[in-house]
Amino acid sequence: MADSALQATDIVGGYGKAVVVQGVSVRLGRKELVALVGPNGSGKSTLLKSIYGLASLFSGTVSWDGRDITRVGPEEKARLGIGYVPQVDNVFPDLRVRENLEMGSYFRRDKAAVLADMEGVFGIFPVLRERREQMASTLSGGERQMLAIGRALMARPSVLFLDEPTAALAPKIVAELFRRVRAIRDSGVSILLVEQHARKALEIADRGYVLVAGKIAMEGGGAEILANEDLKRVFLGAK
Ligand SMILES: Nc1ncnc2c1ncn2[C@@H]1O[C@H](COP(=O)(O)OP(=O)(O)OP(=O)(O)O)[C@@H](O)[C@H]1O
Ligand SMILES: [Mg+2]
Repeated sequence: MADSALQATDIVGGYGKAVVVQGVSVRLGRKELVALVGPNGSGKSTLLKSIYGLASLFSGTVSWDGRDITRVGPEEKARLGIGYVPQVDNVFPDLRVRENLEMGSYFRRDKAAVLADMEGVFGIFPVLRERREQMASTLSGGERQMLAIGRALMARPSVLFLDEPTAALAPKIVAELFRRVRAIRDSGVSILLVEQHARKALEIADRGYVLVAGKIAMEGGGAEILANEDLKRVFLGAK
């Protein structure tokens, strides 16, 4: 599709020989914010990892800007401009905040631009400027997520995969992070956002996918998914 930044088609993925994701297609348009929601263990993280090259990809294709990148490894994907912020272990705890951000741009040679980009990250997450010389291990949960996203931004991505950036955060911090995620999208980055806070994520997303037991149970506009009665019963609950 001409306006797709990223297109994953018929993805079958998992670990070792175990199939978790059972033939899933997702599309991410330019400057789109797309939510991927679903119950615990439904395969959301595995889908991201299969697409990115961090879990087994048994079959399916991934294309980016019309180019086939199915077999392009994770490091090369990062260089191409596809960023990925994992659900866990997403910062280097024994490095300073500034050093973590520098790690995000280690492959870039344009050092002046890197410094300018770090200022850009501090503009989005001012608390990281205050904490720039602190070890990442001393950050709060919310600050750590901001650092993980900031580090990904240092590679100047055009596409960003965010795996549950708001897990285990207080509601006030969740709302703040969602505002920042939207701001990042508004700056021109396409975002695939995996979220536990399904309702809030679908409210801010352009489109959404619901993954249940490794398959897409529903896709459509955020409001459209939220209005679906079956879905509410399946898992949205009171969230
Ligand atoms: N490294 C792994 N090796 C083997 N199986 C795994 C591995 N990681 C996850 N799984 C299994 O794959 C299935 C899907 O897990 P996954 O982490 O993708 O779910 P999820 O939708 O991201 O869940 P959550 O909302 O809890 O993050 C689960 O049954 C899980 O036990
Ligand atoms: Mg997960």
